[in-house]
Amino acid sequence: MQVFLAEHAGFCFGVQRALDKVEEELQKNGDVATYGPLIHNPQVVERLAQQGVKVIQTFHEDNPNRVVIRSHGVGPEVYGLAEQRDFELIDATCPFVKKVQKAAQRFTEEGYQVVVAGDQEHPEVQGIVAWTGGKALVIANQKEAEALNLEGKVALIAQTTLKESTLREIALVLGQKEGLHLEVENTICSATAKRQTAAQKLVEQVDVMVVIGGHNSSNTKKLAQICREAGVPTYHIEKPEELDCQCFQGIQKAGITAGASTPHWIIEEVVQRMSDWNQEGTENKETVEQENA
Ligand code: F3S
Repeated sequence: MQVFLAEHAGFCFGVQRALDKVEEELQKNGDVATYGPLIHNPQVVERLAQQGVKVIQTFHEDNPNRVVIRSHGVGPEVYGLAEQRDFELIDATCPFVKKVQKAAQRFTEEGYQVVVAGDQEHPEVQGIVAWTGGKALVIANQKEAEALNLEGKVALIAQTTLKESTLREIALVLGQKEGLHLEVENTICSATAKRQTAAQKLVEQVDVMVVIGGHNSSNTKKLAQICREAGVPTYHIEKPEELDCQCFQGIQKAGITAGASTPHWIIEEVVQRMSDWNQEGTENKETVEQENA
C-alpha cells in the first residue's frame, strides 16, 4: 500500500502561534493557564497538562493569574473580567479570528444586522457574536438562510473554518431576498481553504482516506466530510491506535490529511503505523513464500 500525505495538513499558523505562546510562558514561569482547552486536540491538551498548564473557565483567585486566550478568541466581556479581577491575559487569538471579530463589531456599529455563517456551538462563533453585543444571528447552511426573515442592511461574515461553498450558497440565498442590502465579507481563513483543497485533490487519487484530528475539531470534521462526499471510505481518527489494519486489506493507495489543530508528531505516528503494516505485510509474505518453498 502506498501512503500519500496531503500537501497541506496539520497545525496552522494560528494554532502553532498559540502553542508557542504557552510554551514561552511555561519557560518564563511555570504557573500559567489557558482559558478553555488551548486547541481541539485532546492529545496536545493532555501533554500541556502534564507540563502543568491548567485549563480554566473562570477568573477565580485559586487559578494561576497568567492566562492564555486560545486561538479561537473570546468576547469583550472576558477581557473586562480579567482586568477587574487583576488577571494578566496573554492573547493568542489568531489574527484571522481577530479580523472577523473586528468586522462583526464594525458592521454592528454601522447599523448592520450581522449574520455569521458557522456553527453556533463553536467557541470562535460565540466569541464573534459577543463582539456584536449578542445581536448577530448564526446560521449553518443554505436552508437556515432561506428561513431567515430579514430586511435592511445585512452583513454576512463567516467562521474562519467554514467551507467556501457553504458561504457562497448562503450568500446566494440572502442576495435573492427582497428589501435587503447585503454586504458579504469572506472571513474564511486561507489555512482552512488550503487544507480543504489539498484533501479534495488527494481524495481523487486514493482508495481510502485517513483524516487525523480531534473528534471535536470543526475543521477536521469538515475535512472528513469533504472526503466522504467524494465517495471514498474515510476514517476520522485522533490517534494511530484507532486505525485497524483489517480495513486496509487490499488497498493500493491510502491518503492522509489532518486538521489545523493536529500536531506533526501525531501525523508522523500515523504514517509510521501504516508503513509498518507494509513492512509486516512484506515480512509475512516472505515467510509464507519461504514455508511454501
Ligand atoms: Fe487561525 Fe486559520 Fe488556524 S483562523 S487558528 S490560521 S485555521
